[in-house]
Amino acid sequence: MSSNRDQFTSKLGFILAAAGSAIGLGAIWKFPYTAGTNGGSVFILLFILCTLLIGLPILMSEFLIGRRAQADAVSAFKKEAPNKPWFLAGWLGVLVSALILSFYGVVGGWILSYLFRAVTFQLDGGTEEHYGALFSDLISNPVEVIFAQALFMFITIFIVQGGIKGGIERAGKWMMPALFIFFILLAIRSLTLDGAIEGVKFMFVPDWSYFNMETLLNALGLAFFSLSVGVGAMITYASYLPKTETITSSAFNVAWMNIAISILAGLVIFPAVFALGYSPAQGPGLVFIILPAVFEQIPLGSVLVIVFFVLLLFATLTSSMSLLEITVSVFVKDNYASRRKYAWIVGIVIFIAGIPSALSFGHWSDVSIMGKSIFDFIDYMTANVGMPLGALAFSLFVAYYYKTSITQNELNLPTPMYWIWRVAVCFVAPIAIIIISVYNLFA
Ligand code: TRP
Repeated sequence: MSSNRDQFTSKLGFILAAAGSAIGLGAIWKFPYTAGTNGGSVFILLFILCTLLIGLPILMSEFLIGRRAQADAVSAFKKEAPNKPWFLAGWLGVLVSALILSFYGVVGGWILSYLFRAVTFQLDGGTEEHYGALFSDLISNPVEVIFAQALFMFITIFIVQGGIKGGIERAGKWMMPALFIFFILLAIRSLTLDGAIEGVKFMFVPDWSYFNMETLLNALGLAFFSLSVGVGAMITYASYLPKTETITSSAFNVAWMNIAISILAGLVIFPAVFALGYSPAQGPGLVFIILPAVFEQIPLGSVLVIVFFVLLLFATLTSSMSLLEITVSVFVKDNYASRRKYAWIVGIVIFIAGIPSALSFGHWSDVSIMGKSIFDFIDYMTANVGMPLGALAFSLFVAYYYKTSITQNELNLPTPMYWIWRVAVCFVAPIAIIIISVYNLFA
């Protein structure tokens, strides 16, 4: 059966793929702006707690389900729990991941647009207003935004149609370390700006007035989004893992790397925000406005910013391909020949579904659903409703459907660690998800 399914050839390949899926716009774009609108420190603390106590145990659960079943997110449940409704959780994941990709492609397009501006040296030499205007001009220009989104989706589809492993294993090996180094460099520059300390305080000195259920839900949603859990992405990737490979250390690696990149991104953005006199709470444009301003402060910044946006593009693509792969793998199953066809069909449908999100910053900015723009609405529904629901289903599945002996054997953890995981997926994660979701539903 597995002969014509893709398989990772090494454990490193798998870690890189999983980390590549996780580390992307979530850590680098969404984390800073969501932390910015949620008051900083307390949100960041809750985000780390949600990642470790809820996201990580569920990530391990997804790995476990995928590696055991060796099948896509829908078939995995049909295989593991025949004639039970669990496979519906797989379909929910397919729907939610497609919706995520619909707006992810829009932001991917923004990155391409910025890369184009970097290459043509339109990013340097700006004043503070210049960077703000640059961003608002871009997002309100329908032709450029949709063209860039189409191009980004095209690249994503192109990679996925050829099978996921080859490209990631090769690119991932140098991309992730390079990105780390860049962020450390940028953080040093940002932290040495005059007045940078205010940004550090914003990140680490708690302002408890922000401690409420809404902040908690946002932190939970971001933790899921950032780790790529709750929609079966990691079930899909783990299904390409030979049964002999261990999954626990991979999950830990993904979680800590993701937190590290998020904090680093924060240390690049917030010190600069305060030092240069911007507002931390300006929403999705934050990173696009601040980053060029930081590069401006660096010798050779106008060249380095090109390299940076290339790396950012790679990080974004390794995430978008995992989002597309979920749906494609459900249709392709083990019939490798049809992969190309489905990659295109699914990818184009998702591109079209994303057009309203692309327009929601310009022509359609008046359209609102439940008080949110189309883009914000889809973002909110996926991260704060869809993913928690999927995560709840996955955690209940491994917690109550699998016998202890099975999970113990699969995870292969020392006994105390195993029980920590067990308590987390049986109680902590489901109860927290239910309380936070229900509270926010009626708040
Ligand atoms: N985690 C990715 C990021 O932070 C986004 C992503 C990729 C994702 N695959 C996913 C989110 C699956 C949820 C589910 O950019």
